[in-house]
Amino acid sequence: MPNLKDKSIVITGATGGIGAAIAEALAADGAAITVADLNQEAAEKGAAAIKAAGGSAIGVGVDVRQRDQVRAMLDKAAETFGRVDVLFNNAGVAQTRPFLSITEEDWRFVTDVNALGVLIGMQEAVKTFRRQAEAGHGGGKIINTASIAAKQGYEPLAHYCASKFAVVAMTQAAARAFGKEGITANCFCPGVVATPMWEVIDKGFRDEKLTTKENEAFDSFAATAVLGRASQPADLVGVARYLASSDSDFMTGQSLMVDGGMVFI
Ligand SMILES: NC(=O)c1ccc[n+]([C@@H]2O[C@H](COP(=O)([O-])OP(=O)(O)OC[C@H]3O[C@@H](n4cnc5c(N)ncnc54)[C@H](O)[C@@H]3O)[C@@H](O)[C@H]2O)c1
Repeated sequence: MPNLKDKSIVITGATGGIGAAIAEALAADGAAITVADLNQEAAEKGAAAIKAAGGSAIGVGVDVRQRDQVRAMLDKAAETFGRVDVLFNNAGVAQTRPFLSITEEDWRFVTDVNALGVLIGMQEAVKTFRRQAEAGHGGGKIINTASIAAKQGYEPLAHYCASKFAVVAMTQAAARAFGKEGITANCFCPGVVATPMWEVIDKGFRDEKLTTKENEAFDSFAATAVLGRASQPADLVGVARYLASSDSDFMTGQSLMVDGGMVFI
C-alpha cells in the first residue's frame, strides 16, 4: 500500500462524486486533506465527516476560475498542514449540447472551469512548490482529472471534450516545464462514473431529445466498457492513491485510462 501518511493533499471538487471518494480514501490512508469546492458549506461538511472518521481535514470554499481564491486555498492548506505535497485539480462541469447548438456562453462556462481552472491551479501549485523548495522541501505533485472525453470527441459534448483535451495538453506541457525541479504532473481519465455530473449529462440528453428515458444515455455509454459496467467513484481511488504517492515519483506527463476499458490508446 503506498504511504500517504501526513502528506498534505488538496482536492478541488472534493464534495462531488469522484473528488469526495478520493478525499475520504486518502484521508483514511493518513493524508491531511484540504476539501475544496465551490460549495463552501459542503466542503466544511466533507472535512467534518473525515475528522469524525478519525482523519485530518479542513474545508475550503474555492472557485477554481478565480486566481485569488485558488491562491488562498493553497495558502490555507500550507498554513494548516505545514506544506502542500499534492494538488488534485478535479473540479469540473459538464453540459450536453448538440454540436451546432453550442453557444459562446456554453463554451466559456465549460472551458472556464475545466481548462482555465486547471491552468490556474497548476500555476499556483508550482508557485507553492517553488516556495517550499526554497525552504528545503522540494518537489510536488499535480494530478488532474481528465476523462475519456480527453481522448475522443463525443458529438453532444464537443466543448466538454475540448476542455478535457486541454487538460492533457497542459499536463504534458507542465511535465516538461517543471520536471527538472522534481515537480510532476499527471492525469487520470475516468469513463462513465455514477456521479451528480452524469445526472446532468443524462438530463441534457433528454432535454435535447437525444434520448427519451432516464439513464438511457448513461447506460448506453457505460455499455461500451469491456469490463461490463459503469464506474463508481471508488473505482478511481486506486489510481489517485498511486499518483499521489512516491510510487509514481518517476512518472510525469502521463494520462492513465481508468475507464473499465472504453478507450484504448
Ligand atoms: N462522472 C464522470 O463520468 C466523469 C468522467 C470523466 C471525468 N470526470 C471528471 O471528474 C471530475 C469530477 O467529476 P464528478 O463526476 O465527480 O462530478 P460532480 O459534479 O459530482 O463533482 C464536481 C465537483 O466540482 C465542483 N465544482 C464545479 N465547479 C467548480 C468551480 N468553479 N470551483 C470549484 N469547484 C467546482 C462541484 O461543486 C462538484 O462538487 C470532473 O473534472 C469531471 O469532468 C467525470
